[in-house]
Amino acid sequence: MKTRIIGTGSCLPKTVVTNEDLSKIMDTSDEWISSRTGIRERHLVKEETTASMSIEAARRAMEDAGVTAQEIDLIIVGTLSGDYVTPACACEVQAAIGASRAVAFDINAACSGFMFALNIANAYIQAGLYKTALILGAETLSKVVDWQDRSTCVLFGDGAGAAVVRGDEQYGLLAFDQGSDGTKGDVLACPGRTNNNPLVQTDETLRYVHMDGQEVYKFAVTTVPASLQKTIEAAGLTPADVDYFALHQANIRIIQSVSKRLHITEDKFPISLDHCGNISAASVPILLDEMNRKGLLKPGMKVAMSGFGGGLTWASAVVEW
Ligand code: ACO
Repeated sequence: MKTRIIGTGSCLPKTVVTNEDLSKIMDTSDEWISSRTGIRERHLVKEETTASMSIEAARRAMEDAGVTAQEIDLIIVGTLSGDYVTPACACEVQAAIGASRAVAFDINAACSGFMFALNIANAYIQAGLYKTALILGAETLSKVVDWQDRSTCVLFGDGAGAAVVRGDEQYGLLAFDQGSDGTKGDVLACPGRTNNNPLVQTDETLRYVHMDGQEVYKFAVTTVPASLQKTIEAAGLTPADVDYFALHQANIRIIQSVSKRLHITEDKFPISLDHCGNISAASVPILLDEMNRKGLLKPGMKVAMSGFGGGLTWASAVVEW
């Protein structure tokens, strides 16, 4: 039995902010942002929250999968920007959709969060503990970036993506690879919670995302192709056998580099970063949902996925759709 993705859903905030819009409030330009990253616009929250987007994405994925809330045994949300420290975003989703039988918790593996959630769900399903899982990646990155720092704030967006996974006799997950390197955590970090106790001097400017963009680039263009290659081989395939590569949407140059290193044409690498920006853990499931709803994915097709980012963390999977 294999663990199969049987439905997808996503939710983006209503408000679209273009590069042109940003150039009116900070010293940047569409030319700078789009030529270096491929990003043209992103969706940012006004009234939406990480939980409200997750709930909507979850409902759409359940509808697509044809499963009821009572069938869900497990809910995992990959996020670094939940609305609360506690309760977990997954518990908010559980309450809203009425999945009263489910176990619900969040994980933080930054941009690899959805992929780690997929592997955790797979482990539970393969161990026979649970049958049906709802996995999500959801972020409100607009609240963790410094809007005075043009080198980071233009890169990110808000949104949520979800998938329902379940054991299947025919198709599903063929191979997985994941890893972490905590020694390089400082190249992409967000201290977030500062301590305001009477004994501590707090530097509030440390609260936001900071990044060594060039180091992150080097990490991504070496680790991601190696991880994909390893996973594709473990699945008994070659890169040429893969129908689509669904990669974390950080930057078009990273995706182009991975395509070159694997000798696979760019048309097999669908993108959403042009209209979504980088949504960390939500990138991969939102992209999958867009591919699914466009009708690109047919049963049995081979899809290679990869998430990579803060931690540092990375994870790849090859699935039969
Ligand atoms: N608009 C205009 N100018 C800008 C902006 C902006 N938004 N941001 C920075 N600049 C300026 C800088 O001030 C600098 O000017 P200077 O030369 O006068 O000092 C110049 O542009 C170059 O700045 P760098 O930070 O060196 O820009 P770089 O060429 O490295 O590009 C980028 C930055 C696109 C982020 C690049 O490092 C990259 O592709 N990194 C890959 C990692 C990545 O995409 N991270 C995203 C999140 S991580 C993840 O999801 C895994």
